Amino acid sequence: MTTSNSGINWFYSCPLLLLLSSASVALGATRADDYFTSISHVAKLCSSRARLADALLNYAETESSRLERLRQFADTLRSNDGNVSGIEHPVEAYVTIRQMSREWKALLGQCDCTETYQLVAKSAGIRPPAEDDYDGAADALLRLQDVYRISAAAMARGRLEVNSKNRSGDGEQTDSGPLMLTAEDAIHLATRAFNTSLLSIGMDWARLLLMSDAFPYWTTQRKLNRALDLLQLAAQLPSSQGGSQIGAFLENMWNKTSGNLTGAAAKISSQIKAISNGEKETESYKEICREGSRTNNHSSSLTCRLAVPHPFFTLAPVKEELLNSDPRVTFLYDILTDRESDRLTEVAEPMLQRARVGGGAFTKMRISKSAFLEDEEDWSVERVSRRLGLVTGLNVSDSDPLQLGNYGIGGQYEPHLDSKGVGLAKGNSRLATALLYLNNVKQGGGTVFTRLGLRVQPVKNGALYWHNLRRNSSDIFDTLHAACPVLEGSKWVANKWIYYMGQMASWPCGLSQLE
Ligand SMILES: *[C@@H]1O[C@H](CO)[C@@H](O)[C@H](O)[C@H]1NC(C)=O
Ligand SMILES: *[C@@H]1O[C@H](CO)[C@@H](O)[C@H](O)[C@H]1NC(C)=O
Ligand SMILES: *[C@@H]1O[C@H](CO)[C@@H](O)[C@H](O)[C@H]1NC(C)=O
Ligand SMILES: *[C@@H]1O[C@H](CO)[C@@H](O)[C@H](O)[C@H]1NC(C)=O
Ligand SMILES: *[C@@H]1O[C@H](CO)[C@@H](O)[C@H](O)[C@H]1NC(C)=O
Ligand SMILES: *[C@@H]1O[C@H](CO)[C@@H](O)[C@H](O)[C@H]1NC(C)=O
Ligand SMILES: *[C@@H]1O[C@H](CO)[C@@H](O)[C@H](O)[C@H]1NC(C)=O
Ligand SMILES: *[C@@H]1O[C@H](CO)[C@@H](O)[C@H](O)[C@H]1NC(C)=O
Repeated sequence: MTTSNSGINWFYSCPLLLLLSSASVALGATRADDYFTSISHVAKLCSSRARLADALLNYAETESSRLERLRQFADTLRSNDGNVSGIEHPVEAYVTIRQMSREWKALLGQCDCTETYQLVAKSAGIRPPAEDDYDGAADALLRLQDVYRISAAAMARGRLEVNSKNRSGDGEQTDSGPLMLTAEDAIHLATRAFNTSLLSIGMDWARLLLMSDAFPYWTTQRKLNRALDLLQLAAQLPSSQGGSQIGAFLENMWNKTSGNLTGAAAKISSQIKAISNGEKETESYKEICREGSRTNNHSSSLTCRLAVPHPFFTLAPVKEELLNSDPRVTFLYDILTDRESDRLTEVAEPMLQRARVGGGAFTKMRISKSAFLEDEEDWSVERVSRRLGLVTGLNVSDSDPLQLGNYGIGGQYEPHLDSKGVGLAKGNSRLATALLYLNNVKQGGGTVFTRLGLRVQPVKNGALYWHNLRRNSSDIFDTLHAACPVLEGSKWVANKWIYYMGQMASWPCGLSQLE
């Protein structure tokens, strides 16, 4: 930007040009410095021609390399254009957001295309992503690394294997292949990790930066300098999060090597590895998200059956799998048809968009987006409500509208109980939850019941069903549940929360107060 501008400035402020133009205007008039009366002045003019030529060539050179950069960027954009399937991959999503936010911003300074970008964005109905979208996408990758224990080396290569062992232990030998991320990305991710107190993950990115087979376009010296910057950032974390440990290491290393950086890279790398391996996990839901299969205690009382909860299902009984007996959690297969599931997401999609615009929280990348759909909205919503009423035997007139939700990159929902909702009438609460899965998720995105050690993977058209309350209206705390981050793909769900008060006839109080 600065070089090209100064080129233009030079062009217009060139005294010679000004002289020439004023001379042509004043042609015919007699003046003291006119050229036609003295050959020595013309000789001076001649000698200036070469300098002007040099300046012009210089300008053209700068311009063509600028244009070359624009062209290269356009090629990069085109090579990924329209491949929406790639966007389901979190690393590709991150790269896309980086290109459309940070890189565009840097480029807009170099061309007269701000208006073009805004026009294209407007006609496509998109908001150009901002810096916090870029940070949000990084945070999503870090969240995936945290929950699924994916090393920086694997993530940078777009490899999303869930790792139940050490985060960085097996990195070196197995992780070879082209990197999807750049050295700058590694620095961005490390910085964001320290910002969100994910010390060991940030360290893992700093270590990747130092690895000899990664980012060969950077010199060792440059990598080392940036890694040291990152360590200094990490050293500022509170000591409870390991900051002082890093600080002491840095000081010690400087004392030992007296500023000689040649041997420092290996030391830094091994120290970082030690820190990464020493970290303990605090939240149990992450482990349940990661484990390959359902980890609850499968006892013989857990069964599958064909149920006919209402004559409506006589010809097509409900395929019901009991996942936990106390509290009772069941999975109902094929409770929806493909047509209904697809229709629901189709109806909800534009409403999610509107919710984004109306919500005002436009810049912050949310972890999921949702919209409430009234029964009158569409035949599919009405039909789903009615069917859930038949299958649960509850009075769905007393319930929330169907809530459709879409989880994006790393989208998740931390452990919570469903019983208390917003906008509930006084004294009312959510007796039952039906969680409907409207699509299959490629990887991740399970629903976990943290106290039951139970994980359920989404199955399109299926529903998870449980009660949040006892008959005496007290909470069943064992229904504490969470949504694991979506590792790959996108996740569509619909929630139906059925209230307590309307069930006087269908779910009467028990005989004992403790029931
Ligand atoms: C789209 O992206 C996916 C994932 O990166 C890739 O496998 C596929 O070949 C791409 N398709 C096209 C047409 O480029
Ligand atoms: C992680 O790896 C280190 C060595 O690489 C080992 O000492 C440690 O026990 C491992 N931890 C787990 C949980 O596997
Ligand atoms: C994290 O980043 C935000 C915004 O970039 C900044 O305001 C905040 O101070 C940072 N926090 C830490 C702990 O680095
Ligand atoms: C490093 O050297 C400084 C002074 O040069 C000293 O104050 C400090 O205690 C030393 N630190 C370690 C860990 O040896
Ligand atoms: C720097 O350290 C390396 C390896 O530790 C050593 O070979 C080299 O001689 C040192 N250079 C200086 C200037 O001390
Ligand atoms: C599984 O359940 C059985 C009986 O319900 C019990 O005896 C056993 O200890 C349980 N196992 C675990 C690992 O919880
Ligand atoms: C169902 O709930 C609605 C709304 O709370 C209520 O008006 C109605 O009486 C209930 N029906 C039955 C059969 O309890
Ligand atoms: C309801 O029943 C549970 C379990 O039997 C009991 O712990 C709780 O105190 C009861 N609540 C009320 C309000 O009686």
